[in-house]
Amino acid sequence: MNEFEAFLNEHLPTQNSFHPHYEEALQNMLLAGGKRFRPQLLLGVVRSFNALMIPSALHAAYAIELLHTYSLIHDDLPSMDDADLRRGHPTLHKRFDEVTAVLVGDALNTYAFEVLSNAPFSDAVRVKLIRELSHNGGLHGMVLGQAIDCHFENQPLSLDQVKVLHINKTAKLIAASLKMGAIIVDKKELGDTLYEFGIKLGLLFQIQDDILDVTQSSEVAGKTTNNDGDKNSFVTLMGLEASMREANTLADELLSALETFDSALSQTLLPLLTNYINRHKE
Ligand code: IPE
Ligand code: IPE
Ligand code: MG
Ligand code: MG
Ligand code: MG
Repeated sequence: MNEFEAFLNEHLPTQNSFHPHYEEALQNMLLAGGKRFRPQLLLGVVRSFNALMIPSALHAAYAIELLHTYSLIHDDLPSMDDADLRRGHPTLHKRFDEVTAVLVGDALNTYAFEVLSNAPFSDAVRVKLIRELSHNGGLHGMVLGQAIDCHFENQPLSLDQVKVLHINKTAKLIAASLKMGAIIVDKKELGDTLYEFGIKLGLLFQIQDDILDVTQSSEVAGKTTNNDGDKNSFVTLMGLEASMREANTLADELLSALETFDSALSQTLLPLLTNYINRHKE
């Protein structure tokens, strides 16, 4: 088990009560796995500057994964994307019920900030991390993206509007993951550069996700696919081929940008990114 999974297992949300499945439901989707892409980005940045800070950084990486997992639980709800499968398991509202899925999402969202508030950093760093995660994961970022995504189902947006949608619902949290790594190692300028890089990486990540919705089976993806027909996805708007071309262009631009980074940083991020940067071609 790697250090992130070990940390997650040691810091699972626990709450004993007479509720028959509250605690199990809180832990279910966290334990189901997932790529842990955002934690790996944060930890990659920290590792390339100061590996001694990894034990502290795990708290922040976990906070991001908590918020991300909440966003997936709510994303799958019948009132949002109405999906039955997530991370290779039945979605929470299928396994338990809808009210459990809503409340577990609420609990993981707030627990993310509890974890950050207890993380072993100076007060100043803790506040910066909390600001970054709440700004990008909340009303100015992921939540706005989800609101646009759901409101405009069956109403085609322009390509620029879809980019705004994807940047908010997905890219900002990915950008924040990189920037939070830079905050932990106290590199302000790098944080700004990485944020910009992360927005592009996140846009690519969501375009790939849109492509995989039509090219991957639910079994392979571990989540309900072929589910974006009513959505403003890149594929519904531009078609599969043009989406692949856009993804290839972004992937090339990201690899070139990576070469301009400090060599320790680009060497740490390169293997991680090459794992993902071509995933739309699978
Ligand atoms: C899925 O995120 C939702 C998007 C923002 C595209 P991931 O593809 O990172 O899902 P997990 O964490 O691996 O399950
Ligand atoms: C969801 O985008 C982004 C989130 C903020 C959770 P999708 O709805 O495309 O994600 P999947 O395909 O269900 O994982
Ligand atoms: Mg969605
Ligand atoms: Mg979805
Ligand atoms: Mg999707």
